[in-house]
Amino acid sequence: MNHPFLARIYDTVLAPTERAGVRDQRRRMMEGVTGKVLEIAAGTGLNVPLYPATADEVHAVEPDRHMLARLVGRVKESSVPLYLYQGDAQDLPFMDGTFDAAVIAFALCTIPDPTRALDEVHRVVRPGGILRFLEHVRSRDDRTARWQDRINPLWGKMAGGCRLNQPTVEILRATKWEIDDLWRSGGGFVVAGQAFRT
Ligand SMILES: C[S@@+](CC[C@H](N)C(=O)[O-])C[C@H]1O[C@@H](n2cnc3c(N)ncnc32)[C@H](O)[C@@H]1O
Repeated sequence: MNHPFLARIYDTVLAPTERAGVRDQRRRMMEGVTGKVLEIAAGTGLNVPLYPATADEVHAVEPDRHMLARLVGRVKESSVPLYLYQGDAQDLPFMDGTFDAAVIAFALCTIPDPTRALDEVHRVVRPGGILRFLEHVRSRDDRTARWQDRINPLWGKMAGGCRLNQPTVEILRATKWEIDDLWRSGGGFVVAGQAFRT
């Protein structure tokens, strides 16, 4: 669960893709999110400076203490009150219906049981609340998907257990979340969207 080396290099390794457009995708994911907001698997806190002023407060959960240490260092970059928790998205320390919205970025690929995490987030978001997500997924292009399958074992070892070839949209569709909006980029490799809490 703890990846000190990954936590140390994470922001530097991601910097080129963040500059090339991922940061804009993160900003779009956050746009217009209101009320009491949950972020699971917040990592080093790349979303923290992008939490929108429309949110009343954000509660961010991250299990890895090395990631969390970097997240703590970013608290001052948040424009809204931010509360941090060391915890597991598969077993959230919140009462049912606590949040108006939840955000997840590049994390369902790493959380060991993404269905369980999505069910937990569903439990702690109020009925009618929303989930915004931004994830890399298994490509719909067969050639790219085969390439993802091939490098996945090595990738997982280097990237803290990340599953490069996971069909995350299909996993999300099989939960109680109702997908409302979905768009793909990066040749179908990245998906972003919104789902409603039924
Ligand atoms: C690829 S990083 C993404 C971090 C951040 N969301 C971002 O967009 O940069 C995946 C994160 O998932 C976290 N993670 C792994 N297992 C988890 C779990 N069971 N519950 C919550 N977070 C988890 C990891 O510690 C890591 O910080």
